[in-house]
Amino acid sequence: MFVKNDEEKVAIVGVGHSKFGKRLDVNMNELAWEAIKPAIQEAGITQRDIEFYSVGNFGYWSEEILPAVTIGEYAGLKCGSLKTEAACASGSASLKIAMDSILAGKSKIAMAMGIEKMYNSPNSTIIELIGRAGNYFWEFENFGMTFPGYYALYATKYLDEFKSSEEDLCEAPVKAHHYGSLNQYAQFQKETTVEECMKSKYVSRPLKLMDSSPITDGAAALILARGDVAKKLTDTPIYIESQGYATGTAYMGRRDNYLGLEASRRATESALRGAGLDGIGTNFDLFEVHDCFSIAEVMAYEDVGIAARGEGIKLLKDHQTYHDGKFPTNLDGGLKAKGHPIGATGISQAVEITKQLRGEAGRGRQAQINKGRALQHNVGGTGHYAYVTVYSRGD
Ligand code: COA
Repeated sequence: MFVKNDEEKVAIVGVGHSKFGKRLDVNMNELAWEAIKPAIQEAGITQRDIEFYSVGNFGYWSEEILPAVTIGEYAGLKCGSLKTEAACASGSASLKIAMDSILAGKSKIAMAMGIEKMYNSPNSTIIELIGRAGNYFWEFENFGMTFPGYYALYATKYLDEFKSSEEDLCEAPVKAHHYGSLNQYAQFQKETTVEECMKSKYVSRPLKLMDSSPITDGAAALILARGDVAKKLTDTPIYIESQGYATGTAYMGRRDNYLGLEASRRATESALRGAGLDGIGTNFDLFEVHDCFSIAEVMAYEDVGIAARGEGIKLLKDHQTYHDGKFPTNLDGGLKAKGHPIGATGISQAVEITKQLRGEAGRGRQAQINKGRALQHNVGGTGHYAYVTVYSRGD
């Protein structure tokens, strides 16, 4: 494998995370600052040291249309910036752009953040706007599809093909809400049960309220530094080993099958190849996957390769994705309990991975770190975009 010198590496040297939830107490810039301030403090730098920043944001529902500009002004950032959009993977796209600015030699320190302020609009508007992010003409306009509806199609096919039940799917929110109850930043901090999940209202049959990610306001930030600079700033840099990305078709009708997301599989293969790994094997201590609906979590297990096709639910039911299982996954509560502020999610996942790899996740949530490596899977749309990122402590 090609060995990189420090100048060719990028590492996370500071992280920040806002409380997720219904944040009517702050405006967008104030919410962003909740994440940026601790990230800057942790990195031991000032705003003047940041030479570029990117802001993951979907944003059509919020007060600010140019958040990179207003956030930068509020936070005292004077450098160049842009907003990235890759639907629910906008945060990973933000990471990509900030990382690229370092790898291209344009900056030594950059910030990647993500933010969403969804409660600026009524739920019905938000659900419509997300629905348009499928395929506008054929699927949204003609059939009135929403995102719970798209994922319900996958759930229907999966449950039928692999003879699984709605109770089986409810194991996903039980795990999510368990870890959410231990995460101070999570939108929902209360345990749930399969019975409670089964009793929750149908959002799009067979998916119920508890099977869904909520509408969320939230922000998260990462300070990135070139490898040699990172070593001077911190004793615990978390390196971004590689990132794989893929784009899928916008049309559900053109998908090869409804049992997984092809773009996720291609992005995973590319990320593993980039990190010089020949598979998942025992190479990773933990995973963050895009679990926007219970079925999305099960398909993600299978798409990244911690379970064979049709085996994802068994992994969940056997508690193999809990913190003491074989493949610890979403120990922050995931999108269903921690919340899913669209543009912030990819960065939030990276914050969690950083804390886990540093051993700072806290009691009941900390995975055992042996290999010092973690994998993040972040999907936009129903596999319209997929980003998979490999992180390591570099030891
Ligand atoms: N899990 C658990 N509880 C939830 C929840 C969720 N996902 N979403 C909302 N709730 C709770 C609320 O806190 C509220 O509780 P309260 O009455 O005690 O205050 C109650 O359920 C009703 O919330 P509300 O927001 O009015 O529900 P809603 O029916 O308008 O919206 C969904 C619920 C699931 C339809 C909506 O959140 C949704 O569309 N989610 C998916 C978003 C999405 O597609 N994201 C992109 C995915 S890739």
